This record gives sequence, C-alpha cells and structure tokens, in this order.
Amino acid sequence: MNRMGVVGCGVMGAGIAEIGAKGGCDVIVVDAFPEALERAKARMAASLAKAEEKGKLSEPAEAILARIRWTTDLTELADREFVTEAIRELLEDKIALISQLDGILSPEAIIATNTSSIPVAQIAAASQHPGRVLGTHYFNPVPVMPLVEVVSAIQTDPSAADRTHEFCAEVLGKKVIRAKDRSGFVVNALLVPYLLDAIRSLENGVASKEDIDEGMVGGCGMPMGPLTLCDMIGLDTMLLVSESLYAEHLELRFAPPALLKRHVEAGMYGRKSGRGFYDYS
Ligand code: 3HC
Repeated sequence: MNRMGVVGCGVMGAGIAEIGAKGGCDVIVVDAFPEALERAKARMAASLAKAEEKGKLSEPAEAILARIRWTTDLTELADREFVTEAIRELLEDKIALISQLDGILSPEAIIATNTSSIPVAQIAAASQHPGRVLGTHYFNPVPVMPLVEVVSAIQTDPSAADRTHEFCAEVLGKKVIRAKDRSGFVVNALLVPYLLDAIRSLENGVASKEDIDEGMVGGCGMPMGPLTLCDMIGLDTMLLVSESLYAEHLELRFAPPALLKRHVEAGMYGRKSGRGFYDYS
C-alpha cells in the first residue's frame, strides 16, 4: 500500500499524514475546512523543521511535504488504498463519513479509524464492506510517539488487519500492538482514569495544578504532568473520550469530572485554544 488518504487534519490527522509521507507514501489530506488545512500545513512544516534540525530525517523536509496533496474534496480519495479518518470523536460524524467513503473508494481499500474510544464495530457497521474497516489508534504527538494500536472489530477481515499491521510497522515505522475492540483499547483504558483522577485531585483541592504535575514528573518519571498532558490532548477530546469510555464500561473511574466539563463549556480546550488548565496565550 502506497496511496494513502487522511480525512480530518487536526493534530492527529496532520501527524498521521506526516508519518505517511515520511514513510514514502503518496498522501492526500482532506478536511472540510480550508483554514484547518492551512493550520495543519503550518503545524507539519514546523514539526518537520524540528525533526530536520535534530537530524531525524533521511531526506529534506521539503521532499516529504512534496508527497502530500491538500484538498477539501473527499472524492479525490478515489484511488487510495489506505484511508485513515481522524475527524472529531463523534459517532454520528464518523458514520456519515464512512458511508460517504464507501461511495468513493474501491471495496478493496482499507478504512482505518483513529478513534480513541468508540468501539470500532459501531463505525464499521456504517460501511457496506465492514470487513475493510478497522481501528488504528495513534498517540499525540504522532511523529514522536512510537506506538499504534491496531484494533479489529468483529466484522474486520483478518487479512485487512494483518496488512494494516505490516503497513504501520514497515512503512509508518510504528511499534504495533493488537487490541480487542473494547472502548479505550489497551492504552486509553489505563491512561484516561489516571488523567481524570488528576483532574479530580485539582477539583478537590488536593494540590495546585503545578504540584499535581510536578508530583507525577518528579515522583514517577512521567515525561509531562497529567494536567499538562490533558491540555496537550485537548480537553474537548478528553471529554468525548471519557464519555465514550463511561458509556461502554459504566464505571465511575471513566466518568468526566465536572471541572473538565466546565472547561469545555467555557471553550478552554487546552493548548489548541490557548487556554486549558494552563494559559498558553
Ligand atoms: N519527527 C520525528 N522526531 C521528532 C519530531 C518529528 N516531527 N519532532 C520531534 N521529534 C523528536 C525530537 O527530536 C526528540 O528526539 P530526541 O529525544 O532524540 O532528541 C523527541 O522527538 C522529543 O521531542 P521534543 O524535543 O520536541 O520534545 P520533549 O523532549 O519536550 O518531549 C513529548 C515532548 C514527546 C510530548 C514528551 O513530553 C512526552 O512524551 N509526553 C507524553 C506524551 C503522551 O503521553 N502522549 C500520549 C497522549 S494520549 C493520546 O494521544 C491518545 C489519545 O487517544 C487521547
């Protein structure tokens, strides 16, 4: 597989497109909003410039960027072999997109969803060819974090999952783990309760946000504190992920704390909006 498509170019979509182009793929990135495409181009150029400066690239950043086409037109994906959707974490949006893609792609093309918490079976059910739909869950920042979870839904054709596993490992250069189609898969089922507990600690006045973060960095060797990480993931995404996990497991450890909801209602989404638990303005 060499002809790759990415739909949705927020932080995750742009990162997935970057590693695809870095792996030598011909990549088309689609987003409904031209301004999102412009933001993603700038983000990717900065990311590649940093990688180049640190000697992480085997060719000039410009050569990588030249393998990417940017468009608002979904039908340009018609010849793609491997399409990843990374639109926002709402089932109805993902279902609508999958059925649109069904009408555009050949039935052999694989559709991967970068959902972080919606069961893949629910998304695959929107396709006339559900065997080609599976989950590939990447981690932010995608060009830096080595892992991807490959998730087969009960409808997924095992050969599509095997081809995707090989593609992620060989072309995208990722460490692959295979996970069952259970909301949260392996990593978020463990990570999200920890992050939500950090928010609850702040809500309950256990310590300041700085001290909660410093506690986990200095005390446990985490690369960044949990509240800083929430801001990086995006508090809007954190809320949607937490709601999906809670709906699936009905366990209080997955329930969104009120403080998280208030931040999202106030438009304080974290780093991407300039303010979350911390101020980035
Ligand atoms: N391509 C390749 N390498 C790159 C790169 C790029 N575009 N950009 C940066 N790098 C390299 C750098 O050269 C550096 O390499 P080095 O260690 O060999 O020098 C390394 O990546 C780290 O980069 P930075 O210097 O930019 O950054 P920091 O050292 O400050 O680390 C961080 C930043 C990687 C974000 C680190 O703080 C970290 O690991 N944080 C935790 C992130 C995490 O937990 N992510 C998962 C979130 S959960 C998620 O995404 C799932 C979702 O569903 C919720």
